[in-house]
Amino acid sequence: MNEMTVTRTRSEAFAERIGTLLDAGAVAAMISVGHRAGLFTALAGQRPETSDEIARRTGLAERYVREWLAVMVTGRIVDYDPAHRTYHLPEAHADCLVPGAALGNLAVYAQHVTLLGKLEDRIQHCLETGEGTGYSDYPCFHQIMAEDSDQTVKDGLFEVILPLVEGIDERLATGIEVLDAGCGRGHVLLALAERYPASRFTGYDLCADAIDHARNRALAAGLTNVTFEQRDLTGYSEPGRFDLVTSFDAVHDQKDPEGLIRGLKTSLKPGGVYLMQDIGGSAYLEKNMDFPMASLLYAISCAHCTPVSIGQGGNGLGTMWGWETAERMLEDAGFSSVNRHILPHDPMNVWFVSQV
Ligand SMILES: C[S@@+](CC[C@H](N)C(=O)[O-])C[C@H]1O[C@@H](n2cnc3c(N)ncnc32)[C@H](O)[C@@H]1O
Repeated sequence: MNEMTVTRTRSEAFAERIGTLLDAGAVAAMISVGHRAGLFTALAGQRPETSDEIARRTGLAERYVREWLAVMVTGRIVDYDPAHRTYHLPEAHADCLVPGAALGNLAVYAQHVTLLGKLEDRIQHCLETGEGTGYSDYPCFHQIMAEDSDQTVKDGLFEVILPLVEGIDERLATGIEVLDAGCGRGHVLLALAERYPASRFTGYDLCADAIDHARNRALAAGLTNVTFEQRDLTGYSEPGRFDLVTSFDAVHDQKDPEGLIRGLKTSLKPGGVYLMQDIGGSAYLEKNMDFPMASLLYAISCAHCTPVSIGQGGNGLGTMWGWETAERMLEDAGFSSVNRHILPHDPMNVWFVSQV
């Protein structure tokens, strides 16, 4: 083979790979559409059905249901029987595409892909100017994030996450003061408040719409031991107020992550503990080549986490700031011990338990 032939073959192989990526991107966007329309839930556990039957059962427009199904069939997500023109979602596929699925609902994350599309013009502007964004630039961000953390954090909260903090179940049952920093829609705090009526829970977040949602939920559930407050955590200081502080995926996109960690440390009473979850990638790009969904995480970083930090006047650490950076910041804040954990079922996230 001469050099030109080799080059052309490599180029052709690369072009094929780009084609595969474009195809996968389109399927991902349509997974998001299917998730939001409830189509995966409607298909799960059903016998093979025609598009007419599916449309009738879901109350959706048949012509669009059929076209969406075509994406799912060519994307190898739904099986198609041409003889009967029926569609079927195999149980093994439903296992990661419906709420409460055995392997977690990956369709939730597909919503980040469609959000990227909605942001294209804004990110183009950021690229050209170096400016940042505000949370109001992101339609549905808090809804997507709450769905995301419902399964990342809330679903495993009592069984695998709280047990990372020795003795915390007993302390919460007895009655302690708890803060969730950057609580978003507050679903995790609400679950804690319901489980531990003797403890008092506070949630702070920058965004009024997320706090309104959390307050309404607390009201609807009749919870009187939880308070939500819109609050910018930049320069945060409430010395010695809390026994337990948590943050779930809420440090790296702040204006001043390092300052926040220091502030959270001083907000703890003697014997207090800080439980922090963040994305478990490395601070070194080259070490993230095989990290789960690394490209999606860097894309979310480019379109969301980096610009919202810059928009607040910060440096834009990014989603993949890395566990090394997080660990160093926790140690520099002066905690007496910092322990890092990866949960077996969730290689994407890292958990730090830091004692005052
Ligand atoms: C990735 S979201 C995580 C939300 C929530 N902890 C969850 O798991 O669903 C990050 C949160 O940090 C909040 N946040 C960002 N900058 C903030 C600031 N300066 N002060 C308070 N909250 C902030 C955002 O509004 C957002 O709700």
